[in-house]
Amino acid sequence: MKRHFRVWRGDSSGGDLEDFDVEVNDGEVVLDIIHRLQATEAPDLACRWNCKAGKCGSCSMEINGMPRLGCMTRMSTFTAAETITITPLRTFPVIRDLVTDVSFNYEKARETPAFAPPAGVAPGQYRMQQIDVERSQEFRKCIECYLCQNTCHVVRDHEENKEAFSGPRFFIRAAELDMHPLDDRTDRKQHAQQSQGLGFCNITKCCTEVCPEHIKITDNAIIPMKERVVDRRYDPLVRLGRKIFRRDQLESEGALPSQRTARVTAETPSGRRLPEAPAVGPDGRLDISELAAPSQGGLSPFGEDLTFPLPPEQVTYHHPEPDPTLPQSEPPATGGSNS
Ligand code: SF4
Ligand code: SF4
Ligand code: FES
Repeated sequence: MKRHFRVWRGDSSGGDLEDFDVEVNDGEVVLDIIHRLQATEAPDLACRWNCKAGKCGSCSMEINGMPRLGCMTRMSTFTAAETITITPLRTFPVIRDLVTDVSFNYEKARETPAFAPPAGVAPGQYRMQQIDVERSQEFRKCIECYLCQNTCHVVRDHEENKEAFSGPRFFIRAAELDMHPLDDRTDRKQHAQQSQGLGFCNITKCCTEVCPEHIKITDNAIIPMKERVVDRRYDPLVRLGRKIFRRDQLESEGALPSQRTARVTAETPSGRRLPEAPAVGPDGRLDISELAAPSQGGLSPFGEDLTFPLPPEQVTYHHPEPDPTLPQSEPPATGGSNS
């Protein structure tokens, strides 16, 4: 059947909604309709997409005013008589048609202090409890579609806040690193409050509502982070210490964070030098050249010259020896029949 669409066409100098009547088939999603338009009536319609599977985060757009992924919005969610209006993300500057300039988010990503591994532990030697892995797993589902960033009223309606506010996507990153048992920085909370603008957030939960990965951004990241900021800032002992001691004394006692600048290096028992974690500046940020590394996806944490699987003598992990005081389980029977 034919359905009525209104699609925003234009660029940074201005534009308008254009009307189309397009054929829609069973099982199609909004991105299919855009592709049909490109193949028929509007070959120059600009739209960003890659995976068509809800995993790359590039087909973000506003559909009837709601920030959504075009490839994950089924046409069956609309009634037959409904006009479907498709517009670009409102928070970011338009490049052309449905394509916006989301570089604000990459700037904010660069400003977020990178993971700081403890001294003497190299990539490949990190060990953490499963419970800690599971705690941050939710945040690592983020596909960087920036629908949450686009929805947050702190920047959606106030361009002037963009400089001081990193947005929900980067609050979950800060929370993830703050919960990470191997992260050596102790000032994540301070940074979230003072540099990322955590205090601007008034917990409206709009970001959580639009997240296609169903990450509980507000409940599991922002609120716990705010609580930890308050714990720290209003802890009566910490406040008293701030009044009594000089800053350099507090730093030497570990009460205030000292910035990590050193590279982490280590050697295996065989003397082979393990790769180094990328250097961060005195402000804890990665140098921009780390992000623009020529190899796609950045440097391998295992180095350039390794082939897998590693020979056993290069594997640094050894399975724990069985405890002789504990009863040993029987090895599984082999060679028997299933009947
Ligand atoms: S909960 Fe906070 S970060 Fe999320 S949309 Fe509301 S103000 Fe923005
Ligand atoms: S947190 Fe959710 S909405 Fe925000 S960028 Fe990640 S996947 Fe998209
Ligand atoms: S095309 Fe990849 S998320 Fe929609």
